[in-house]
Amino acid sequence: MSTLFTPLELGQLLLKNRIIMAPLTRGRAGADGVPSELMAQYYSQRATAGLIIAEATAVSADGRGWLNSPGLYTTQQQQGWQKIAQAVHRNEGKIFVQLWHMGATVHPDFVQGQQAVSASNITLNGTLATPLGRDKKFEAARALTPTEITLQVQNFVSAARRAIDAGLDGVEIHAANGFLIDQFTRDSSNQRTDEYGGSIHKRLRFMREVVAGVCKEIGSHKVGIRLSPTNNTWGISDSQYSQTFTTAVNQLNEFNLAYVHVLEPLPSDGSNMQYLTPLLRKNYNGLLLANAGYNQQRASDALKQGLADAVSFGLPFIANPDLVARFKNNVSLSDADSTRFYTPGPQGYVDYLPAKETG
Ligand SMILES: Cc1cc2nc3c(=O)[nH]c(=O)nc-3n(C[C@H](O)[C@H](O)[C@H](O)COP(=O)(O)O)c2cc1C
Repeated sequence: MSTLFTPLELGQLLLKNRIIMAPLTRGRAGADGVPSELMAQYYSQRATAGLIIAEATAVSADGRGWLNSPGLYTTQQQQGWQKIAQAVHRNEGKIFVQLWHMGATVHPDFVQGQQAVSASNITLNGTLATPLGRDKKFEAARALTPTEITLQVQNFVSAARRAIDAGLDGVEIHAANGFLIDQFTRDSSNQRTDEYGGSIHKRLRFMREVVAGVCKEIGSHKVGIRLSPTNNTWGISDSQYSQTFTTAVNQLNEFNLAYVHVLEPLPSDGSNMQYLTPLLRKNYNGLLLANAGYNQQRASDALKQGLADAVSFGLPFIANPDLVARFKNNVSLSDADSTRFYTPGPQGYVDYLPAKETG
């Protein structure tokens, strides 16, 4: 029976444990999306994770709508990621990067006033900081044309190629949390009547095309995907979420991916949606990573029950760079300072110390 400390074969990698670092946007790249030296330090501090899934990283300039978030569409950005890959590998870690396009959540302030793009003409609920102000409300996005969809697929493919050329071990396609791929998948945000909308199969077409393109470019063993069937980020929902995401994982079976990463609501969210991980597990043939709100005990139980092959941790990795050692030695965990999640600079980022150094 597997424990959190049992090695795991993931694609062609052998992970030293099943304690995965979840992708965490931290806003420490430059204004131009170039990953910083600080990011290399931060990720290398966390290299004892079985696998680091680095933060959401834009595949194109028109997909980047988070202040100081990284990108992977310029040579300088690729060089920044190369330094991160080297730093993590020097510490014997493994690292994927999560690739996103933010779709309708990209405020025009990020793209010289251009309108954001999405599956349909929609305005999502929410605000984000932009280069021109805090808490700026999302504006109306416009539907991508079929030709533009093909170009967006190509952006994912090119960013994946850059990730591998930078020396990263693989990519996670961000199909969760209400961003572009999710905007196509769910019926509240996809009102298209062409081959990319309508039935579940058609709404999943964009996801399939991105996955197929990226797998062809870098090899399916280097590709994971993240889904969040039961959250309603930015007001996005699906009237048949159970069928939609069961269909999604059945379609993903065809690709022989490195893994599918399922994000469920936090237990504290009080969501009344069905907990889908068991159903998705039944329908998906490959490795499944579970996430949200796990502690060591719940994670160990999930592995024991065969619910997941590995568990990812977000907040615990922010404040505990040595999370694996803390689990192993039963050391209590430090709490993350939420006021520093996205603030530039080292504070609340690289200054969380391993337990032995905090005394
Ligand atoms: C500061 C912060 C940044 C996050 N950034 C991302 C991200 O870039 N991509 C993503 O898929 N999820 C992101 N998430 C969600 C986490 O990956 C994870 O799903 C969430 O923290 C729940 O897991 P946990 O209970 O172990 O923290 C973020 C969460 C936090 C708190």
